[in-house]
Amino acid sequence: MQQGRAMAINKDNSLKALHCCYTAGTGGGKSVAVQYAGTVPANPCLAIFDPYGDYEFHRGDPKNRGFAGKKVHHFETRVKFANQFAKAWRSGLPFRIAYMPKEPTRKEMLWFCELMWRACDGNRRLDMVIEELARWTDSNAKETGRLGECLTGGRKFGLVVHTVFQRSTEVSKTILSQSPFKIIGVQESRSDAERMGKECDLTLADIKSLEPLTYFKATGGLGNVEKLDLRHIFDKSRAKTAKNTKTA
Ligand SMILES: Nc1ncnc2c1ncn2[C@@H]1O[C@H](COP(=O)(O)OP(=O)(O)O)[C@@H](O)[C@H]1O
Ligand SMILES: [Mg+2]
Repeated sequence: MQQGRAMAINKDNSLKALHCCYTAGTGGGKSVAVQYAGTVPANPCLAIFDPYGDYEFHRGDPKNRGFAGKKVHHFETRVKFANQFAKAWRSGLPFRIAYMPKEPTRKEMLWFCELMWRACDGNRRLDMVIEELARWTDSNAKETGRLGECLTGGRKFGLVVHTVFQRSTEVSKTILSQSPFKIIGVQESRSDAERMGKECDLTLADIKSLEPLTYFKATGGLGNVEKLDLRHIFDKSRAKTAKNTKTA
């Protein structure tokens, strides 16, 4: 990223929106889906707003496996994160980096979005993840500010926004309408199930049939929905299918 650059560069209108949202109750498999659903490239340029350390990497610790088993570098201050992100992005090489502010707020989330917006470059793909979005957004308002802009304008600049939340009724409709890809796991309530069912043309019975680490994956356009099963990730006795393991 150039120092002080205020805007995304190299607009390319031919780029498709690849934004994806992930929604399931706690333990339903949102963070696992971000890592393994094939929506993030295998060798990504990836920045994560990770206030609860869901992608921490501790060598040899099966509970802190980073991102799909790869190391993620976490930083707690804006200065450190921004410097390391700029260095990684300038290198032209893949990276996985996370911002984990000590006191996460909407303001911190928007600062993260601002940095992504300034960095993105239509000549190459940049993936950004926002964990627990419902805490940093207002369900009753349109998502204005930089997050909204990353979603509506980011596509042309190679930005791919991954938003993660437990309840779809708690996030603004901009998030759903601007994310052609949607990964739906077990739902917390009827109202959440109905909202996602309506978005993706699924029945309540379809959604009720889900178990943790199983999902419906909407791939854009009415009726384009496939099933996804990631139980094999932690249960090696389950055979994996080619469909579930392909990467973007
Ligand atoms: N490191 C791990 N080792 C074994 N099982 C895991 C691990 N991480 C997640 N899981 C399993 O996957 C489920 C979903 O986890 P996760 O994606 O973190 O849920 P969410 O992000 O929706 O809260 C967990 O309930 C657990 O069964
Ligand atoms: Mg999670």
